[in-house]
Amino acid sequence: MNNRVFTVGSLISGRLIVKHPAPERTERKIIKAEGIIVEQNGKRMEIYPVKGKLLDAALSQGKPIQYKCRKGTCGQCTIKVVNAPGLSYPNEQEKKKLKNEITNGYRLACQAEIL
Ligand code: FES
Repeated sequence: MNNRVFTVGSLISGRLIVKHPAPERTERKIIKAEGIIVEQNGKRMEIYPVKGKLLDAALSQGKPIQYKCRKGTCGQCTIKVVNAPGLSYPNEQEKKKLKNEITNGYRLACQAEIL
């Protein structure tokens, strides 16, 4: 058995070559947040996409989206969608309530579906 004792002097560069194995290359995966970004009353919120109604996902994540009827009639849940991967197309209730605002990115959170 080799019981070599290293002293400070033995570790000075040039006296002892300590070979360290090359560090393994680790691949870093950059996981980009794919959240749905919406605005309501000037407040921007990011909602983690969970299949179902956008309003339900937002409320379950503690996002304070205002709403009232949940039927698509009052318009209280109107939001501006900034970024929405995987969001359904506007349904008839939204088209009826929001009219041309849909083309500007507005949706009813109680009607929009996360697919
Ligand atoms: S809560 Fe009334 S339209 Fe969405």
